[in-house]
Amino acid sequence: MLRPLLLLSALIGLLPGAEQQFVGSATLDISSCPISYYGEQFTTLYVNASDDGFKACFNMSMDCIEIEFVANGDSVDSVSLTNTTPIYRDISACRQSGVLYFYDDEISSDPDTCSTEYCDSVATIQTDGCPPLQRCHGNNTCKFYPICTVTGPAVIDFNDQLKTVEDRCGYTLLTGSPIENLTVVANFRERRRRDVSFLDSVTLRLQGQDDVHLEQGGIVKEGNTTLTINGLAILGNSVLIFVNPTGVTVYVWHSESITLVFFDGNTALIFYTGPAELDPELGGLCANSSTSVSDERLPEDIGSSCEVQYNDTADSSINCTMMTERCNLLLEEPFTACHNHTDPESYVNACIDTLCKYPAVDGLNCQFQEAYARDCSLLSINILDSWRSTAGCSPPQSFCQGRICSDHEFCAETISGGIGCFCRAIFAFPYRPNDALGHPTVCEENSASVTLVGCLLEEKGIDYTMLHLNDPTCTGQIDELDHMVTFSYNGSNTCGTEVMANNSQLIYMNSIVGNNSVSDNITRQDQVYIDFSCVFTQPDVNTVTFRIKDSSVIEKITSGTWNYTLTMKAYTDAGRTQAVDSNTEVQLNQLIWVQLETDGLDDGLVALVTDSCWATDQAESLRYNLIVDGCANPDDQTVNVVGNGAGTSNYFFFNMFQFSRSSSEVSVHCKVNLCGNLNQTCTPNCNGASRRRRSAKLKYEDEAPAFISMTWTH
Ligand SMILES: *[C@@H]1O[C@H](CO)[C@@H](O)[C@H](O)[C@H]1NC(C)=O
Ligand SMILES: *[C@@H]1O[C@H](CO)[C@@H](O)[C@H](O)[C@H]1NC(C)=O
Ligand SMILES: *[C@@H]1O[C@H](CO)[C@@H](O)[C@H](O)[C@H]1NC(C)=O
Ligand SMILES: *[C@@H]1O[C@H](CO)[C@@H](O)[C@H](O)[C@H]1NC(C)=O
Ligand SMILES: *[C@@H]1O[C@H](CO)[C@@H](O)[C@H](O)[C@H]1NC(C)=O
Ligand SMILES: *[C@@H]1O[C@H](CO)[C@@H](O)[C@H](O)[C@H]1NC(C)=O
Ligand SMILES: *[C@@H]1O[C@H](CO)[C@@H](O)[C@H](O)[C@H]1NC(C)=O
Ligand SMILES: *[C@@H]1O[C@H](CO)[C@@H](O)[C@H](O)[C@H]1NC(C)=O
Ligand SMILES: *[C@@H]1O[C@H](CO)[C@@H](O)[C@H](O)[C@H]1NC(C)=O
Ligand SMILES: *[C@@H]1O[C@H](CO)[C@@H](O)[C@H](O)[C@H]1NC(C)=O
Ligand SMILES: *[C@@H]1O[C@H](CO)[C@@H](O)[C@H](O)[C@H]1NC(C)=O
Ligand SMILES: *[C@@H]1O[C@H](CO)[C@@H](O)[C@H](O)[C@H]1NC(C)=O
Repeated sequence: MLRPLLLLSALIGLLPGAEQQFVGSATLDISSCPISYYGEQFTTLYVNASDDGFKACFNMSMDCIEIEFVANGDSVDSVSLTNTTPIYRDISACRQSGVLYFYDDEISSDPDTCSTEYCDSVATIQTDGCPPLQRCHGNNTCKFYPICTVTGPAVIDFNDQLKTVEDRCGYTLLTGSPIENLTVVANFRERRRRDVSFLDSVTLRLQGQDDVHLEQGGIVKEGNTTLTINGLAILGNSVLIFVNPTGVTVYVWHSESITLVFFDGNTALIFYTGPAELDPELGGLCANSSTSVSDERLPEDIGSSCEVQYNDTADSSINCTMMTERCNLLLEEPFTACHNHTDPESYVNACIDTLCKYPAVDGLNCQFQEAYARDCSLLSINILDSWRSTAGCSPPQSFCQGRICSDHEFCAETISGGIGCFCRAIFAFPYRPNDALGHPTVCEENSASVTLVGCLLEEKGIDYTMLHLNDPTCTGQIDELDHMVTFSYNGSNTCGTEVMANNSQLIYMNSIVGNNSVSDNITRQDQVYIDFSCVFTQPDVNTVTFRIKDSSVIEKITSGTWNYTLTMKAYTDAGRTQAVDSNTEVQLNQLIWVQLETDGLDDGLVALVTDSCWATDQAESLRYNLIVDGCANPDDQTVNVVGNGAGTSNYFFFNMFQFSRSSSEVSVHCKVNLCGNLNQTCTPNCNGASRRRRSAKLKYEDEAPAFISMTWTH
């Protein structure tokens, strides 16, 4: 038998006429028309024709394809195919489970997920779902239906891919050619922890128009102007805004596309309809799955400190196992109804990542389920509301509607279940170590003020309107913009400021105290007690002298059955022989004795009790205590009281002082009582009298206490 002679030009589709003839075996260069076989390209073909048949091999070491040419039932020994259209088919493109598939053959398909397994043109098995930006609608139908969800730190893009934002910058969510006039930006900020960021607001940038900002609390701003929208509003000729209790929806339309942006204060949803199939140039975190988070940071934010990352200590109260179980509810009924349309995986991962780091407060424990259900509802898949009762979630509502927090605050759920403006973690960080509620006291010549931070009070459940200074009429003033609460006093109203001398210093003291609610017999709030003081150094001791205005003060007093005169007199010696008169110069810090003496009282029946003495400035706006409850002011070691309650006269001594930078005059006032000493002791018990504690009603207190004053000047 003759050896077959083959014209291989036909077999491999070489140019007609480029015949190659051989007998036996040959190596053919087919680089002008390479052959793909099992995913590899071959440019050399080894052929061997023998009595056994015809073999063509790509590589000597590989299996060869055996080809037999048959004509009329007999083998042929010569084939010429140059004049006919060659039919060439590689019988073994792909193999799976021992089955062979040809190029472009479908291996299997699932109409519910729109996925198809097939053998591709280079003989590899591929699985195809819907094309990018399209979603499976079951029934093997893919539709262009791009939905992007941004919730907490998570961006779940049009392809259901998860990207996580870890800083507090602005990011482009959507931009691109069919919507060249619109860029959607998400702004992230921290809340209770510095290391977890949350979607805080959404900005729509429109060419030739002011930006539209959607903020927490259902607030819509056009540029810097807050818009009041009842239901519906149209801005320019392509923006429609719709506000309802669940959130704000903005529609931006162009000739061929509509972009919908929904924001409820926590979660944003971006839905785009338009010819993206024709123009796949959509960019931003939502549209471009290959972009990285940092690539989409706003150019103006690059280099600003918004990208600094923090490392807060982990919250040990979080049970990650429990949170994971909660997040996995998304994998169960009734959410399964939507699984074939939107893969829940990214939602579950975002949920676990967030809730294992950040406490499940402010509605966060329902937020990811809510976001998934909303995404599905846009696809017309309604998730049964039953999940809400299972998970303990209330129906959707715009978070913190109507509440306006300032820039360093965020809207949060308070301990009592209401809403309030809490401090953002970075702002609050410097206050945390001391548990401070505000700023240091600002002392000025004649006034002082203390500023408390509104959001720190709010976190502690303290109502600033219940706070006041020593004088209950001095309440705090709130700044409506930054929510700082300021308490202050000045020369004309000292709000109960007390003055204390300490060596060469004068200390002006006041405090911010919380009122117990009168309507309620109990309080669940911490009592507020914030002392603050201003310390002034006394002026040069040697140059200040005092003179008494009147050398002694005498008053006639009637108290019950008693008619008597009360005399107040000052001395410069312990024996009380050298009375101070209007010519005597008294130096600052000099010891002064003041005697209170009565005339007309029966020593055996009544005693004179000096209940209290205090000094005031000329305006009587500052008060400094010398004697309190019959005893020397324990805060001033220079004051001593002698013979109080033991007879019809007594005296006290102290070091002379003046009010710092106040009026030149000092008045000393005393309140005295008569005490029947027949059957009781009238001497006040001054031992162990603790500071600030008012003892029970003094037993010697009489119904008509007398007041007497003397004034010093310099
Ligand atoms: C061609 O095939 C014959 C018979 O199978 C064999 O003897 C010969 O070695 C082969 N030649 C080459 C180059 O493979
Ligand atoms: C055949 O392929 C093997 C591995 O791919 C290679 O090492 C060898 O050099 C090839 N032989 C020829 C003749 O091209
Ligand atoms: C599936 O698609 C076909 C053709 O597109 C349509 O005729 C049929 O009604 C669809 N079936 C369902 C259940 O949607
Ligand atoms: C908005 O406010 C910022 C800062 O307060 C200011 O710089 C800007 O000019 C304002 N823009 C408009 C449109 O008023
Ligand atoms: C973009 O805005 C300009 C001016 O507002 C308008 O002329 C143009 O048609 C808009 N482009 C598209 C694609 O809508
Ligand atoms: C998508 O992101 C990649 C990587 O950042 C970038 O090279 C590409 O230009 C982006 N595509 C569009 C349409 O913005
Ligand atoms: C953040 O904390 C983690 C765990 O405590 C630690 O491994 C990491 O080095 C810290 N990073 C920085 C920047 O401090
Ligand atoms: C965390 O939650 C899981 C599941 O709810 C529970 O079994 C486990 O005891 C919890 N762990 C702690 C430390 O509370
Ligand atoms: C989702 O797809 C699976 C198969 O991929 C199918 O069995 C199931 O019925 C589908 N579920 C729904 C709710 O359509
Ligand atoms: C507070 O206590 C008084 C006395 O016990 C009682 O008469 C009054 O009803 C209480 N008020 C409230 C609001 O409970
Ligand atoms: C006190 O004086 C008043 C009048 O000044 C007089 O009516 C009264 O009787 C006097 N009481 C005594 C106890 O002397
Ligand atoms: C003192 O009081 C007691 C009891 O209250 C009484 O019995 C006694 O007579 C009183 N003494 C005088 C001197 O009034």
